Amino acid sequence: MQRIALVAAFVATAGAGLCTRQPVRSRHAMVATREAHATDIGLAVLESGGNAIDAAVAVAFALAVTHPAAGNIGGGGFLLARFADGRSTFIDFRERAPAAASRNMYLGPDGKPTSDSVEGYRASGVPGTVRGLELAHEKYGRKSWADLLDPAVRLAADGFPVSYGLAHSLRSQSTSARLARFAESKRIFLKDGKFYDAGEPLVQPELARTLERIRDRGAKDFYEGETAKLLAADLQAHGGLITLDDLKNYRAIERTPLTGSYRGYTVITAPPPSSGGVGILQMLGVLEGSGYEKSGFGSADELHFLAETMRRYFADRSEYMGDPDFYHVPVAGLLNPHYIEERRRSIDREHATSSATLRPGKLETFESSDTTHYSIVDAEGNAVAVTYTLNNSFGSAVTAAKLGFLLNDEMDDFAAKPGEPNLFGLIQGEANAIQPRKTPLSSMTPTIVLRDGKLYLVVGSPGGPTIINTVFEVLVNVIDFGMNIADAVDAPRLHHQWMPDVLRMERGFSPDTVALLKARGHAVELEDHQGEVAAIRVQDGWLEGDADPRTEGTARGY
Ligand code: DON
Repeated sequence: MQRIALVAAFVATAGAGLCTRQPVRSRHAMVATREAHATDIGLAVLESGGNAIDAAVAVAFALAVTHPAAGNIGGGGFLLARFADGRSTFIDFRERAPAAASRNMYLGPDGKPTSDSVEGYRASGVPGTVRGLELAHEKYGRKSWADLLDPAVRLAADGFPVSYGLAHSLRSQSTSARLARFAESKRIFLKDGKFYDAGEPLVQPELARTLERIRDRGAKDFYEGETAKLLAADLQAHGGLITLDDLKNYRAIERTPLTGSYRGYTVITAPPPSSGGVGILQMLGVLEGSGYEKSGFGSADELHFLAETMRRYFADRSEYMGDPDFYHVPVAGLLNPHYIEERRRSIDREHATSSATLRPGKLETFESSDTTHYSIVDAEGNAVAVTYTLNNSFGSAVTAAKLGFLLNDEMDDFAAKPGEPNLFGLIQGEANAIQPRKTPLSSMTPTIVLRDGKLYLVVGSPGGPTIINTVFEVLVNVIDFGMNIADAVDAPRLHHQWMPDVLRMERGFSPDTVALLKARGHAVELEDHQGEVAAIRVQDGWLEGDADPRTEGTARGY
């Protein structure tokens, strides 16, 4: 009897829906990141009186040491914060095109895009991470900057044991071949071709010295001081475009987050130059009132409807999304309820729409208007969601000489040739063509959801364009299918991005469902892994944390 009561109570705590795995639970604060040292460092900041912004800064610098595929100081990203007093903000510290960038800079003599936008010294946009973290800290942090940098300096100077996952990825053919082309990258990350075994220490003295200077002299060192000078000199010596002036002129931009609602929940998400927030809100709008969920999670009807919804948004993305400081992004038109209704009505519930016949929608109004994600909630109820990146895993594969950090290849997020696919197969338009100082369009989508005006969910993921759909799927898993955060993150995912006209599905779906989707006309490709979510949900007075079991990530709280 007593046992039954206990089980019932436990299930009630876990939420009404499918419950196959328990998340990490804590009462006061939680950190969920892709890498265990970084999680522990974030948690220690919170336990010693820092707020969620402080922890976010410390985690970003720690991941720059322990998760070199995506953690960075040579890249950029987005930080979304929602404070306990109800304010929210979005810090855009994404890379910008150097002043010398030009529209056709990645086209070869045959007019075709070259690989220069994804590898080597010409692939990088001006890094924004250090400036963005400084802005967040100056405006919203509490602890001293040095205290937040110290743990990362120590990790770089003393070394940390290489994880199984890191050792494996550094040995993989794709990564090792890219890194081996650049002497500094080969020496530091491939042990000069001898490779690291899991458990061996990775010591990064050059990175430690760079981080020390940033600790002692602030972001100024990175953008104007010794680091800036060394970085610009190295890039210039190898045909790169970034100059000292580009670094000096870099500004992080504080923007108003995009806010919408779904079934009574408030969704606070990433505005342009992310294409993610508009996507999430448009796609949720298409779902709302459609009854798509009635057939149940994982049914062919449900997945078909999701895929068709995704296909339509990505067609719009290809046409309308770009840097709002350079191009008028028609956010209101894309989120107009009449337009959304029209898009919903265009979905055939039985048959896949061929992407070749589907165009970006006609908007009524054009009114004015290997990435990583971590989520943090502090004991006061402040929440921070950060997604930052070098773009490709290990970025451009270039490690700056004497500085020990990898540089991004974010220039590939532009349309090198409007109408032709980029690294992620995304077709993008004039809105995202290359221009000096412009920000490449992003899919990164840090998102925070409120229920009854109170913090409910903090979520985000890496994965290029799949980010938008991954975040979208976690939201509907929780809101529409009543899953706890662990199950919502575990559940198999799918991705459609209009072009190529392929429905990518993780292997976890039932083969019968896959067959049904194929019969409806979807070109299904099965894949191992989509996204790496780190999420926190507030439920019944508990914080539920989860770092995706697809990764070595951890969630810890107190
Ligand atoms: O901003 C973007 O959309 C891309 N640079 C993100 C790249 C990414 O997520 C790669 N990681 N898995």
